[in-house]
Amino acid sequence: MNNIKLKKTLYEDLLYKNNDYLFNSLGIDNFNKPTSPLRHYYKFIEKFHKKIKGDLFEFGVFNGRSLLATSLLLKKIKSKKKIYAFDNFKGFTSFHSNDNLNKFNKNHKIYKQHLLIKKCLNLNTKKLKINNRNISTSGIFKSSSYTNLRKKINYLNLDNIIIVKGNFEKTVLKFFKSYKKPIFSANMDCDLYLPYKLILPIIFDKLQKNGYIHIDEYFSLKFPGCKIAVDEYCNEKGIKISKNKTFLWEFDRYFLKK
Ligand SMILES: C[S@@+](CC[C@H](N)C(=O)[O-])C[C@H]1O[C@@H](n2cnc3c(N)ncnc32)[C@H](O)[C@@H]1O
Repeated sequence: MNNIKLKKTLYEDLLYKNNDYLFNSLGIDNFNKPTSPLRHYYKFIEKFHKKIKGDLFEFGVFNGRSLLATSLLLKKIKSKKKIYAFDNFKGFTSFHSNDNLNKFNKNHKIYKQHLLIKKCLNLNTKKLKINNRNISTSGIFKSSSYTNLRKKINYLNLDNIIIVKGNFEKTVLKFFKSYKKPIFSANMDCDLYLPYKLILPIIFDKLQKNGYIHIDEYFSLKFPGCKIAVDEYCNEKGIKISKNKTFLWEFDRYFLKK
């Protein structure tokens, strides 16, 4: 099979045949899978892309697992919407004191689970001190490859992705000075207190009525800062934080709707 045919087959297999092994080999989340942690976000996109105007946003791209999945899903449903994707592709820049593991306290309803996980991690690793730099299997997310991500985007002709590269502290404020359009949805997956504190008010303000924000780390067992920042903002504004339906064995996920 020549390269053009192979490319077409790969694209169609991803879009229409639900070939899980292809998604896994490419490091893309399988948006068809009923167990995907982002399935509620994908369902929202499928259901409302024609009814609600605006583009999609992603904060925290890493190697593009969720970004490429969302882009392919938009292609599958023949949506012309774009995804603006923000990351420095270098990993965490700094930590706030609200990211320290000792911030998991009684205000986190999930306190016991955090202690158990911490115990398991301690038993499972030679590292005696677990902290916010080594608690994730990806460490501080230094190992992302922007070049590899670009290669995948180009190979699959995903022309609906706009990458905004750099530290959120610089890119987000600058970008939204001139971006005045309403927002359809956002996938917030940036782990730490300061990114959530900075980005959430901007996004929520521009979110369309009935728009959707997926908050990936609200129930995080690793990073307490997300919940602290989201609670601070939502309590002040009286915004309801909703929990997705999950299987018994599954990690909880939360979202905001406007
Ligand atoms: C959990 S990962 C994103 C995972 C991704 N959504 C996926 O599907 O694999 C978090 C990302 O946030 C980025 N990040 C965290 N703080 C940042 C900052 N201040 N500026 C830019 N990027 C940041 C990191 O570089 C990292 O790639």
